[in-house]
Amino acid sequence: MNLFRKKQINTQQSSHLSKTLKLKDLILLGIGAVIGTGIFVVPGQAAANLAGPGLTLSFVLAAFIVILTGFSFAEFASRIPVIGGAYSYMYVVFGEFIAWLTGWFLLCEYMLAVASVASGWSAYFQGFLSYLHLQLPQALTAGLNLEKGTYFDLIAGLVVILVVFWVLQEAKKALALNNFMVWIKFGIIALFIVVGVFFVKPSNWQPYLPFGAEGVIDGAALVFFAFLGFDAIAMAAEEVVEPQKTVPRGMIGAIAISTVLYIIVTAILTGLVPYTKLGVNDPVAFAMRFLHLDLVGSIISIGAILTLLTVTISMMYSLARLVYAISKDGLLPISLNKVDTKTHTPVRATLVSGAVVFVFATMFPLQILAELTNIVALGYLIMMALGIIRLRQVAGDPKPGEFKVPFVPILPLITVGFCIFLMVQLSLTTWIVFFISLVIGLGIYFGYGYKHSTLNK
Ligand code: ALA
Repeated sequence: MNLFRKKQINTQQSSHLSKTLKLKDLILLGIGAVIGTGIFVVPGQAAANLAGPGLTLSFVLAAFIVILTGFSFAEFASRIPVIGGAYSYMYVVFGEFIAWLTGWFLLCEYMLAVASVASGWSAYFQGFLSYLHLQLPQALTAGLNLEKGTYFDLIAGLVVILVVFWVLQEAKKALALNNFMVWIKFGIIALFIVVGVFFVKPSNWQPYLPFGAEGVIDGAALVFFAFLGFDAIAMAAEEVVEPQKTVPRGMIGAIAISTVLYIIVTAILTGLVPYTKLGVNDPVAFAMRFLHLDLVGSIISIGAILTLLTVTISMMYSLARLVYAISKDGLLPISLNKVDTKTHTPVRATLVSGAVVFVFATMFPLQILAELTNIVALGYLIMMALGIIRLRQVAGDPKPGEFKVPFVPILPLITVGFCIFLMVQLSLTTWIVFFISLVIGLGIYFGYGYKHSTLNK
């Protein structure tokens, strides 16, 4: 058994797609996939229950770790500019087994992220409905929670179905819409900042750390979620002009812009409303309604409802591509590789992943989904950091013009340390589900993938 057999990737040969994406497109793509539930939904509960106004510091800490992991990504993307992101990089440096594990974590990350955002979307939509005095039966308002009497998140389920069909039929149009939606996203965030800044009461920032430093760290482990999606940029590598330079810049640019926006929004949010009152699922719109600025609140709600949908669409799109790429290598059933002749989309890959997302989105509450997304993402980001050390051993230093992670191996090892640090903050339930998913992943590889891999032939 050879678990470390490697795939040779020929970047010349695989660059058959038209290269049209420039830096601006990549940053917009990144921001389209990144800014969503993490800023419109998660900060409410996170400020109220975990970090208080110190949530701003949680964002700073999470951003620092994301930037560290972004460095590894940037070097890989600049040296191996092919589709498939982390999964393909690991196939080159560590061989098949680690590539599969990374691919499996990535699959889980995308599925869980789509489920989380669908759940966040449902929360925003319901917030808007209740503002219109409309209410769903309690049992259908959120995932399983016997204490609260909720069983099934109906709206999240409907959103997943909608998104799956959208991605099947309209993948190109959906992505074209992305840029437009990102401007709407900037617009509503700008509206919140410009209006909110005049109503900030510094007394709301007192006490700044009601849950102590521990709260800030717990908050960081949760809001790490807000930065995920930046890797969608690596998925587009083959369609980028000068990918060696543009992909790393796009990635770092998208992370930097999101970081600045997150920090400003959180500081204003916690300055507008006492953190104890922020335990809602639509905090950004809620803050405006709290100030009796109902019209602004409604505009933000509608904007968030529209733009959160684009996060699910771009993630679902990347998910289907990843399932397609992995099945093409034989590690998942080859039938998932079937492309519809009319729409040119991987139909079965989309439907199967959509079905799994549906189950998660309807059954699990948002906080658990976000934590699970984080733990699998941190798992594969650790592989990426270690991968840089290995890449330097097998392929030497980057050439001039390629992105270079400074201080290898020290910086990648520090990155691994920080990722583990965030992982251990997550709850026991999250760890149990993580181990179950790891066992399932190993089961699929040893029961199916190893035998059917194209490297066997
Ligand atoms: N970063 C993405 C979001 O916040 C997953 O929705």
